[in-house]
Amino acid sequence: MANIAIFASGTGTNARKIIEYFKENANIHVSLVVSNKATAPVLALAEEHGIEQMVLSRRRFYETEELLESLKERDIRFIVLAGFLWLIPEYLVRAFGRRMVNIHPALLPKYGGKGMYGMHVHRAVKAAGEAVSGITIHYVNERYDEGGIVFQAACPIDPEDTPEDIARKVLQLEHQHFAPVVEELVRNLNE
Ligand code: GAR
Repeated sequence: MANIAIFASGTGTNARKIIEYFKENANIHVSLVVSNKATAPVLALAEEHGIEQMVLSRRRFYETEELLESLKERDIRFIVLAGFLWLIPEYLVRAFGRRMVNIHPALLPKYGGKGMYGMHVHRAVKAAGEAVSGITIHYVNERYDEGGIVFQAACPIDPEDTPEDIARKVLQLEHQHFAPVVEELVRNLNE
C-alpha cells in the first residue's frame, strides 16, 4: 500500500477526481490533503471522504521542516500538487525528488513560471492566438514549472474560444489524465 498526499489551494476539482479514482484501489491510498488555505473547499472534500487534512502556514512551510516529519510519520510515498500555488522549498524537493508531480494548465515550457496559474495562463494563451493548448504533468523542483516533463496532452483552440472556453477544455483533460498518470508513476516506484 502506497500512501499519497495531495497539496491543493483551490477549488479542488482535480483533487476530487484523484480521491474518487483511488477510492477502491488496494495499492494506492490518498491519506492526506494539505492546503495553505484554511477555507479551501478541498479541505471539506477531504473531510467528506474521511481523509486527514492539514493546513500549512507560510512560516511552517518555509522556515521549518516540520511538514517533512509529518509526511514521514504518515509514510507518504508520493506527493501530488493539484492547484497548489506556493513554490516548493528545497528540503521537500530533496526528500521527494521524482516522487512529487505538479499539473500545469498549458503545454510547458510555454506559459509557465511565476504568476502563470489558472486563468492567467488561459488569457495569455488566448492573447498569443495559439491554436492548441493542453496540460503538462511534471516533476517538481525549486523553480516554478521547470521540473522534467512526465506527460502532456493537447486540445485544439478554436478562434472564437474565450479564455473560459480554453479553461474548460484544459480542465477536462486534467480530469481525464491526472489520476491514471499518478497511478502509473506510483506503481513504477515499486518496481
Ligand atoms: C488546475 O487547472 C491546475 O492545472 C492549475 O490550477 C487548477 C486547479 O484546479 N494549476 C496551476 O495553474 C499551477 N501553475 P482545481 O482546484 O479545480 O483542481
